[in-house]
Amino acid sequence: MMKITIQKAISDDAEDILALLSPYVKKGILLPRSKEEIEKTSNSFTVAVAQKKIIGVVSHYKYNNNLFEIRSLAVNSRYHHKDIGKQLVAYAIEDILQQHRDAKIFCLTYNPSFFKKAGFMAVAKETLPDKIWKDCQYCQHRDNCTETAMVYVLRSRS
Ligand SMILES: CC(C)(COP(=O)(O)OP(=O)(O)OC[C@H]1O[C@@H](n2cnc3c(N)ncnc32)[C@H](O)[C@@H]1OP(=O)(O)O)[C@@H](O)C(=O)NCCC(=O)NCCS
Repeated sequence: MMKITIQKAISDDAEDILALLSPYVKKGILLPRSKEEIEKTSNSFTVAVAQKKIIGVVSHYKYNNNLFEIRSLAVNSRYHHKDIGKQLVAYAIEDILQQHRDAKIFCLTYNPSFFKKAGFMAVAKETLPDKIWKDCQYCQHRDNCTETAMVYVLRSRS
């Protein structure tokens, strides 16, 4: 069986991360990120590596001490349905909770069934603070957004 490692990204991974996100950015499923942005914030990116190749990515964004977004989740289509997306999200959540025990973790997604399996529950968008909508101005779907807002509810620790 193919060995897959989930690990924190480093700034040198930026190019590969960009390439992984790119097809989904083009489809309008993910928001664009710049190489510079990924390099500068590589610490908040988690990657899945198989045979020395980056095949999956997720990142988290800190709004304040207690509010975090899971975003930029993508797995190379050749590796879908191998539990990689789930492991990436679990790793990113653990990373956040280790430092911020009471963090509220949310996502905005076109794929609520995947995130439900990863421990998230759909909530009304209005329950999230206004400032999370700052990215929307760059989105091609801003006027007819059909994303689902979800928050992480499956706490493994008390
Ligand atoms: C969403 C995505 C990251 C899932 O990655 P993946 O590695 O194939 O997912 P996993 O194998 O970890 O799947 C975990 C569970 O979610 C389910 N799942 C996976 N993709 C799904 C999808 N597109 N729709 C519904 N359920 C899905 C799996 O069946 C699995 O269920 P199980 O635990 O009952 O077996 C991948 O399809 C992808 O890169 N999509 C394009 C980008 C995208 O949509 N990103 C998220 C937008 S916010």
